[in-house]
Amino acid sequence: MPPTLANFHLASKYLLQGKLVSFPTETVYGLGADATNDQAVASIFAAKKRPSFNPLIIHLPSIEEAEKYVDFDITSRKLAAAFWPGPFTLVLNKKPGTLLSPLVSAGLDTVAVRVPEHPVVRELLENFKYPIAAPSANLSGKLSPTRPEHVARDLKDEVAMILDGPPCRNGIESTIAQVMGSEIRLLRPGSVSQRDIEEVTGLRVVPFEDGQNPTAPGQLKSHYAPRSNVRLNATTVYPDEALLAFGSLYPKDARIVRNLSPKGSLHEAAANLFSLLHELDDLGCETIAVSPIPPHGLGIAINDRLSRAAADNKE
Ligand code: TXA
Ligand code: MG
Repeated sequence: MPPTLANFHLASKYLLQGKLVSFPTETVYGLGADATNDQAVASIFAAKKRPSFNPLIIHLPSIEEAEKYVDFDITSRKLAAAFWPGPFTLVLNKKPGTLLSPLVSAGLDTVAVRVPEHPVVRELLENFKYPIAAPSANLSGKLSPTRPEHVARDLKDEVAMILDGPPCRNGIESTIAQVMGSEIRLLRPGSVSQRDIEEVTGLRVVPFEDGQNPTAPGQLKSHYAPRSNVRLNATTVYPDEALLAFGSLYPKDARIVRNLSPKGSLHEAAANLFSLLHELDDLGCETIAVSPIPPHGLGIAINDRLSRAAADNKE
């Protein structure tokens, strides 16, 4: 549905009724529910087939609104001032006695909060007035959606409405950070980089490492997985493979090629990542070979998603 005033009203009505609404953000499409309604939040987990120990991000229009639900330490406040609205999520301590459904944070004392930038989710938040809990709008463990048709394919029977709108400019999920005393844990890499966070706070940022307790399932080894196999750092391509290329130097003998960014821009590559993976996956090829992506800046977040897409133990 186009993002008209009438549709924003309808979307808010659905949310109030405890239904699910999908909407674009600057990162990926979200599957939203009223974060104060237990039943509605429970239906997110059911729709996505998401393990219920896996907490959700709440979306709010401003830091002032966020302050009704969570406490900000000085460092988190600095981070919020620097990166909100935008593709950045902070894990913060919940205020006692808030209206938030306990299901949102899966029993933790903390809750993940984001103030997004995309005009459609912002308008919806202004309209709805309550926090919206929203994971990415895909089945658990599958590729994230950056287009309404991706959402429809996984979840069309589960959502009351899918709002359309301008593209998801960042294309990969928000950076997630948690301040722990004088250190900051980077729970998920994203468009806001480790360096960005260090510059704003002057504190040490510790990237999450596999093998630590996976409090964020985006941290599970196999995640963001297409049906096809994924082979990374491919500098040659086998006859039965499709190629996901980056830049202008890639094996020219591949039968099927999609290019993340012919000009070699990491920003463009991040924005195209999930939609091109969806596209190649839909062609039904057995293996998607992926060109090397430079491991710096946004390349860190792109390689993080790709290595999880390539990990074994898919369904
Ligand atoms: O860009 C995004 O963040 C998108 C859009 C829709 O906003 N949302 C998103 O949600 O990626 P989801 O559910 O796919 O990923 C949320 C991540 C999960 O890995 C979850 O475990 C982690 O956030 N998370 C949520 N609450 C947490 C908490 N209290 N402590 C640690 N991690 C938490
Ligand atoms: Mg997700």
